[in-house]
Amino acid sequence: MKENSVTIPRWFDRHLHVRDGDMLRIVLPCTLKQRATGAIIMPNLADPISTIEKAKAYRDRITALLDGSDFVPCMTLYLTDHTDPEEVVRGFEEGVWRAVKLYMANQKGQGGTTGSAHGVKDLLGRYPVFEAMEKHKIPLLGHFEAVEEDVDEFDREIVSVDRDLKPILKSFPGLPVVFEHLTDGRAADFVAEVDHNIHATVTAHHLMINRNAMFWGGMNPGHYCKPVPKRETHRAKVRQYVTSGNRRFGAGTDSAPHDESVKSRCYGCAAGIFTALSAVELYTMVFDEDNAFEHLGPFLSENFLALYGMRVSSETMTIERQGWHLPESVSSQLIGTPTVKVFKGGADLPWKLAG
Ligand code: NCD
Ligand code: ZN
Repeated sequence: MKENSVTIPRWFDRHLHVRDGDMLRIVLPCTLKQRATGAIIMPNLADPISTIEKAKAYRDRITALLDGSDFVPCMTLYLTDHTDPEEVVRGFEEGVWRAVKLYMANQKGQGGTTGSAHGVKDLLGRYPVFEAMEKHKIPLLGHFEAVEEDVDEFDREIVSVDRDLKPILKSFPGLPVVFEHLTDGRAADFVAEVDHNIHATVTAHHLMINRNAMFWGGMNPGHYCKPVPKRETHRAKVRQYVTSGNRRFGAGTDSAPHDESVKSRCYGCAAGIFTALSAVELYTMVFDEDNAFEHLGPFLSENFLALYGMRVSSETMTIERQGWHLPESVSSQLIGTPTVKVFKGGADLPWKLAG
């Protein structure tokens, strides 16, 4: 018999974009309503969070909007070619950030995703930073995608595993690493098997769609994100690791809001999918379909939280089998713009997080 409700500890979003300004005011309440105890806040603002001062100021702007919630915004440092290892350690020891985010850019300064143009061009040149991080056990959160023009878009992740990740793990055996928003089955095999303190975050949308979704009904910007969704065999492989309860995999929504005007642009559509309104319910659908409810709690609320200095919550949340209509988009009447299209917006979802 199918369960009608599932109760798990309150969860933690291991990868979240909340942006700044009006967008922050619109999207942060969505994650708060989802009862997350906190989130790893991505640093890829237009002006990247690349110093202690910027990270503290950004955290203050987020905290000012928490409205009494106990949500913990866990800040990250945006690694650039100029980041000083001493500042990395100081920010970590002072509790400003809990991890360092690696984006990579090619020699032309083109990044592979939104807000990554300031990313690392000279990875070997960053090894002194990794050495300091290894010593102080500061996690490296890696967007592992090769961004060179001659690397096929759909192979970017696996090329980066061989070329970037493996040498890092070999050189820094004690460095905690999180492979962000993993999509490629070969990368999943690697993360599951390699003898290293490595984990991976997986988004709800990558568990649900394959690359065909980018072309449904014509070019479909609503399904365009980085890493791009992969072929079906990869989606299935990643999903199998997740719903079979492999503890190296944990929920990180990569909810990445963009104003509709930049999302629906014919030329230059922005990469990013917004799931913050219904992330818990989407993940629940996946585990329900795979008859794997015993693994939902660990995936959402337990796996490798200690890496981020978080504990498993002693409070619980309940998700009930109850249909509800997911809005097409979120916006604010007070603010006017932006308007953010919701992943699966307009659909009826079968699960609802209880109040
Ligand atoms: C993210 C964004 O919009 O900031 N976009 C995305 O497609 N995932 C950046 C990222 O996480 O790569
Ligand atoms: Zn992201």
